[in-house]
Amino acid sequence: MGIKVERADRIKNLPPYLFAAVDQKKLEALSRGVDVIDLGVGDPVEPTPRHIIDKLCEVAYDRANHRYPSYAGMMDFRAAIARWYEKKAGVKLDPETQVLALIGAKEGIGHTPFAFIDPGDIVLVPDPGYPVYRNCTLLAGGKPVPMPLLEENRFLPDLAAIDAHVGDKVKLMFLNYPNNPTGATATVEFFNEVVEFARSHNIIVCHDAPYLELVFGGYQAPSFLQAEGALEVGIEFYSFSKAYNMTGWRLGSAVGNEDVIAGLQRVKSNLDSGVFQAIQLAGIQALEGSQDCIARQNAIYQERRDILVEGLYGMGLQVEPPKATCYVWCRVPAGFSSAGFAAELIETIGVVVTPGSGFGENGEGYIRLSLTVETDRLKEAVRRMKTIKFDV
Ligand code: MLT
Repeated sequence: MGIKVERADRIKNLPPYLFAAVDQKKLEALSRGVDVIDLGVGDPVEPTPRHIIDKLCEVAYDRANHRYPSYAGMMDFRAAIARWYEKKAGVKLDPETQVLALIGAKEGIGHTPFAFIDPGDIVLVPDPGYPVYRNCTLLAGGKPVPMPLLEENRFLPDLAAIDAHVGDKVKLMFLNYPNNPTGATATVEFFNEVVEFARSHNIIVCHDAPYLELVFGGYQAPSFLQAEGALEVGIEFYSFSKAYNMTGWRLGSAVGNEDVIAGLQRVKSNLDSGVFQAIQLAGIQALEGSQDCIARQNAIYQERRDILVEGLYGMGLQVEPPKATCYVWCRVPAGFSSAGFAAELIETIGVVVTPGSGFGENGEGYIRLSLTVETDRLKEAVRRMKTIKFDV
């Protein structure tokens, strides 16, 4: 007879990862023989650009790359990230102390609370928000306090509404613009306010920026590091996943305040052994090779965004075309909950979307649709959605 496997208290209340749960629904439909169109997870269907793959193939044979990498990342990689930030944000970073390689931004986000959060410490998390912010806080024993992102505030948190009493107990804040799931954007002025808020309450700011380069119509998304004093209060997570279609490679970076970087590095070096060097070298190629691939990919997303938004408008649904990200955030029809409408879509027409409620309480009443499927499949999803009858 097998042993009784009892899970630790810290994971007893941890929900399954949102996109694993969405995947499960997709697998169930596939097993029924449904022709599923997946607008769930944001996972680019186009391949990683050829020049990046070529670099990986070339350096993968070098035996020097087969050994343990440096814990913080190769100096060449960190220097390339610093050069990228100087170009993008006009900020000078010391690659030695202010840049850290990550096995994907999610890894860095997930480990950050373990460096700074003691049991009961408060972490402000955007709601709706990427579920990892809340769940890694819980894993580290912290208390996530939601910052509502409301449509009437253009999905920005109302910093003035954060109770001063709560504010003083907050240790860390997660932010994310361009925003997942709402597609909202923030200005440098807003980031300046965040820095002021963080200074007055002594809060570490962790800005997650995987969609910095997924922008449309000439819009440029600012980095948090462009805010005055950003380096004094926080860090930003950079990701290769969406900019270069590298979700499967797991490569990212944390940049910014050196004490925060050092704390995160202490946790990481005790838990992982760094990023495969060949992937770091391919990452340098991504950052310093031709950037035409980004413009090409953004043009594809923009076309898909327009197809989807027009289709949703046509159905009478309330939606605003996003200026950035690969997501469309849409109100569900009257009479449906988020989960109910998402279930209706998969069950009746085989279209997978993410229920807004999976991103937090304030995501209720919305669904998120991802633009990361082939354009023809997206058109087919819109055609199928138009066959559903509901009141608006
Ligand atoms: C998303 O769809 O929100 C992300 O791609 C999922 C993830 O990063 O795990």
